[in-house]
Amino acid sequence: MLLWILLLETSLCFAAGNVTGDVCKEKICSCNEIEGDLHVDCEKKGFTSLQRFTAPTSQFYHLFLHGNSLTRLFPNEFANFYNAVSLHMENNGLHEIVPGAFLGLQLVKRLHINNNKIKSFRKQTFLGLDDLEYLQADFNLLRDIDPGAFQDLNKLEVLILNDNLISTLPANVFQYVPITHLDLRGNRLKTLPYEEVLEQIPGIAEILLEDNPWDCTCDLLSLKEWLENIPKNALIGRVVCEAPTRLQGKDLNETTEQDLCPLKNRVDSSLPAPPAQEETFAPGPLPTPFKTNGQEDHATPGSAPNGGTKIPGNWQIKIRPTAAIATGSARNKPLANSLPCPGGCSCDHIPGSGLKMNCNNRNVSSLADLKPKLSNVQELFLRDNKIHSIRKSHFVDYKNLILLDLGNNNIATVENNTFKNLLDLRWLYMDSNYLDTLSREKFAGLQNLEYLNVEYNAIQLILPGTFNAMPKLRILILNNNLLRSLPVDVFAGVSLSKLSLHNNYFMYLPVAGVLDQLTSIIQIDLHGNPWECSCTIVPFKQWAERLGSEVLMSDLKCETASRSQHPPSYLISSIVSNFL
Ligand SMILES: *[C@@H]1O[C@H](CO)[C@@H](O)[C@H](O)[C@H]1NC(C)=O
Ligand SMILES: *[C@@H]1O[C@H](CO)[C@@H](O)[C@H](O)[C@H]1NC(C)=O
Ligand SMILES: *[C@@H]1O[C@H](CO)[C@@H](O)[C@H](O)[C@H]1NC(C)=O
Ligand SMILES: *[C@@H]1O[C@H](CO)[C@@H](O)[C@H](O)[C@H]1NC(C)=O
Repeated sequence: MLLWILLLETSLCFAAGNVTGDVCKEKICSCNEIEGDLHVDCEKKGFTSLQRFTAPTSQFYHLFLHGNSLTRLFPNEFANFYNAVSLHMENNGLHEIVPGAFLGLQLVKRLHINNNKIKSFRKQTFLGLDDLEYLQADFNLLRDIDPGAFQDLNKLEVLILNDNLISTLPANVFQYVPITHLDLRGNRLKTLPYEEVLEQIPGIAEILLEDNPWDCTCDLLSLKEWLENIPKNALIGRVVCEAPTRLQGKDLNETTEQDLCPLKNRVDSSLPAPPAQEETFAPGPLPTPFKTNGQEDHATPGSAPNGGTKIPGNWQIKIRPTAAIATGSARNKPLANSLPCPGGCSCDHIPGSGLKMNCNNRNVSSLADLKPKLSNVQELFLRDNKIHSIRKSHFVDYKNLILLDLGNNNIATVENNTFKNLLDLRWLYMDSNYLDTLSREKFAGLQNLEYLNVEYNAIQLILPGTFNAMPKLRILILNNNLLRSLPVDVFAGVSLSKLSLHNNYFMYLPVAGVLDQLTSIIQIDLHGNPWECSCTIVPFKQWAERLGSEVLMSDLKCETASRSQHPPSYLISSIVSNFL
């Protein structure tokens, strides 16, 4: 009887005609052979679940599912896709992976779940991925990683976790995992212990640790020693101390054991430094922006021309999407000679179908000089050149760009609508240039931009509506500019998750109409601004308290105290409202 009902139900479902559809046979997705591999491309099909679909059973394939709405993955979600060898799930708004979701995917070697909203990796999240070698999970909201999260990944070599909210790695998380490449940039790590963490990745060949608030105390000594003993060049980028104040901005490799572990009877080194030392942040006269000595003055990694502020280190490796880690990949095949690369640049295939064109530090003064034009460039690197203006005509041949790096040039002029045709662009780096004003027109067309970096410019003015041109923007980096105010409703059209406003000239920021529009914020950095601790700061203080220290990256200090008695460097959080 029961069986009969089940059969009846099944046949009813078949009558509906939509139980399973072969995504290739029914042309739901495009399925093409590329360099001998079948690519099943189901990008942006509006899928919310995979249960009604199936894919070829007689052939292996790469499965592209990015830009769908697979927000939750349930056990056996991929049961009909067991011939997949790689799985691309970027930009799905994915926030929950129920353990067992990946069961059946024994052949998958590469899993891309970056640019989603995943908050935790639970025990057995990755159960079933027996052959996984490469896990890319950057740009999520990862905070909690269970000690057993990776225990099923006994072949995992590359783990990409940059730009998350990780503050600690649990003990033994790498116990069964043969990691060789690890990217932890842009997290909230203050320390990394040797016992039960570092000691478990003896095969490390590349590790990236930049942009974490390293706490250079005795606890970090074991990291320093470990870094000295791993293969030369395995550490990519810098490990810069954020605390204690006396070591702020210093490279870990340039500290001594004495610096890290001062004698026990000395003053507690984690206390804030006396005000005198804070004066490196004082505004005084407006500083000349970042670069002042003309074109040749490139940022020297490790130098600190603005006093206490930090200069980007080796930017080539800061580029997130194809982190240095991709370089070892056999997939980056050199381009056949038949396709010439513009003079001096190097061009490589990237996984998928596009090209990566690297013209960093090639004395380029205008994009118009890059010839011949290549049409399928997806990642264009032009850092450390001499470009002084960019205009729309420069980009007509680059409609497929996903990443554009124009950092450390001399760009002062961005023509209106310059990026109008770059509809797929997701990452834009324009840090360390001479931009002074941001407007909507300058960024028109960037409808898919998620990451905008304009730190270390001379930005004084952001016009109303500037970010409305970029509705998908999630990460906005505006630190080390000359900003004093923000226009009302500036954040109304975006849902930022990370915002850097530190080292500007804000004395005040309104809550109503500005800060209260940051409804999705999970990380904001406001330090190094001369907050004026008068009555007007009260709503700001209350807003900061509501966010809490989890979101607010560092302490806020009063700079001017016009109507109050609070000395400079007084912590805003410790002001009692009645005093103001
Ligand atoms: C099956 O699904 C497709 C796409 O979701 C829809 O267009 C079609 O009408 C459905 N067929 C039936 C018989 O429900
Ligand atoms: C420390 O690391 C930085 C960045 O990698 C490098 O430039 C510097 O030379 C190193 N310093 C020492 C003392 O090894
Ligand atoms: C850089 O290019 C300029 C012309 O744009 C040229 O005069 C100069 O010699 C070049 N410098 C180097 C180091 O090639
Ligand atoms: C760019 O757009 C702004 C705002 O619409 C306008 O005021 C300005 O004149 C435009 N610039 C040029 C050169 O067209």
